[in-house]
Amino acid sequence: METVEQLLENLNSWAVGAVVVATGAALWWFQPGQKKYNLPPSPYWTLPLVGNIFQLMRMKKYSYETFRDLSKTKEYNKLFMIHLGPKPVLVLNHIDVVLEALVTKMNDFAGRPKSTQGMLMTEGSKDLLFGDYGPVWKFHRKVAYSAMRKFAFGEKLEGLVQNSVSKSIAEIQKKGDVPIDIRPVIMLLVFNISCGMAYGKEYAFDDPDFQHFVNITADFVDALGNGLPGDIHPWLHYLPSSRYNKLMTVKDQVFKFMRERHAECKENFDPNDPRSITDCMLQAQKEAEEEDKEMKGVLTDTHIMMGTRDLFGAGNDSITTMLIQFIAHMIQHPDIQERVHREIDAALGGAQLPTLSHRSKMVFTEACLCETLRLGTHLPLSFPVQTTCDTSVAGFDIPKDTMVLVNMWAIHRDPDFWSDPHSFNPDRFLDDAGNLDHKPPSYLPFSMGRRVCLGRSVALSSLMLAIPQLMRQFRFSSPSGEEFKLEFEESSFARIPKSYEFLVAART
Ligand code: HEM
Repeated sequence: METVEQLLENLNSWAVGAVVVATGAALWWFQPGQKKYNLPPSPYWTLPLVGNIFQLMRMKKYSYETFRDLSKTKEYNKLFMIHLGPKPVLVLNHIDVVLEALVTKMNDFAGRPKSTQGMLMTEGSKDLLFGDYGPVWKFHRKVAYSAMRKFAFGEKLEGLVQNSVSKSIAEIQKKGDVPIDIRPVIMLLVFNISCGMAYGKEYAFDDPDFQHFVNITADFVDALGNGLPGDIHPWLHYLPSSRYNKLMTVKDQVFKFMRERHAECKENFDPNDPRSITDCMLQAQKEAEEEDKEMKGVLTDTHIMMGTRDLFGAGNDSITTMLIQFIAHMIQHPDIQERVHREIDAALGGAQLPTLSHRSKMVFTEACLCETLRLGTHLPLSFPVQTTCDTSVAGFDIPKDTMVLVNMWAIHRDPDFWSDPHSFNPDRFLDDAGNLDHKPPSYLPFSMGRRVCLGRSVALSSLMLAIPQLMRQFRFSSPSGEEFKLEFEESSFARIPKSYEFLVAART
């Protein structure tokens, strides 16, 4: 039987198209009392029911590149509107309109669109990332943040990162002087940081649970990244879909891992001695229910499991990706690698391992990280938010329940703010006196506003601990000695670098 993906591809036929248009037009025009809005311009001719789906499917480039190209035109310069099926989607391509929406009107832009995929992956949006703006989500985020402050800050984080990096360094050293694919070792490093924080657990490289995780991660990102036909229109959910089947298989495997870890934490839970973020959330759940009986059922075990899964998952992919790209930039620019080595050696002096107190002495290394975050832009269209009420941006009306995409990729490459925007130039983050200038105007790697990344400080601290520890030990280079080109997997959701083999030499 034809799957819905094949069906959509074949929808070019005039006959089917005509039926869709006619039915849609009838429904569209006969909606009683529809409010008229002064909407932002749309670059495409919009069909009722299917919206701009055909134009989007025919895009030759990644959607964020096509949206950026549109922004070069006068009419669609800063923002425009498209339709995913019947759903209006606002695309913000410029920092001015992003600041107005996410910062000035932060409550208006704090929702999350409900998607078939999101509901399936989060047991009905019971997590932090997909959870819609409201009292339950606010409480959940507050509890998760305070759990992170206990287990992912200061000395606890230092110990966790140092230990995780040491394990991965030992794995690299075992491989000898041959070119290696660094990804699995970096995944182990980040997996151990995340599992340590989330569940108080660590893994060896050959642990079957870790190896299984490596195998399913790519499938998971792929399945998540491409969305489901039901997200375009709810009725497509009822047609057979190969993507749906794939997503369900991967979801079951990921959930099995999370459920097992959650069950272990519950079994060993001691309210007087919390040992992980899960323990802290269990403790907060207990205290809230004891204080107020009505809190029972607000922060359920499923919320805790899903919330921890977010902290674990959101951190894993993004930090792994950024570390791999940081190393790739070092290989592409041996002179910069040399500067980083010199700075780290001077900053650490006789210290065996980097701590958070060394960070302020490694401004050039941190500038390289900032530049990696800018060029890497892990989530090029961020994560969609949704308007919680009728609102406006740049003088245009934006109706309630509009999905909003922030084109971070375009914003991080806006030539009005970044000279030679595609090149790796860490010095652009330093002022004339060599200090880190943390506030370049068109820069938001962790997004902004109500839905700003919850793990921003953990991510920056972890990376500024892991990078010096790795760089102190190793010099990275391209095996062939040829110029090394960084390329990315095809995914609309996250930018994941392709696998490469690097030469990793011990520094003497
Ligand atoms: C380099 C690393 C990271 C980058 C670039 C990054 C970036 C982002 C971005 C762009 C968003 C979407 C914000 C929005 O919807 O507007 C996000 C959300 C989120 N991130 Fe991160 N992140 C990183 C690391 C982490 C880490 C380490 C954690 C947890 C320990 C984390 C936890 C989260 C959570 C829970 C959300 C959802 C926030 C919400 O919906 O309220 N992230 N992140």
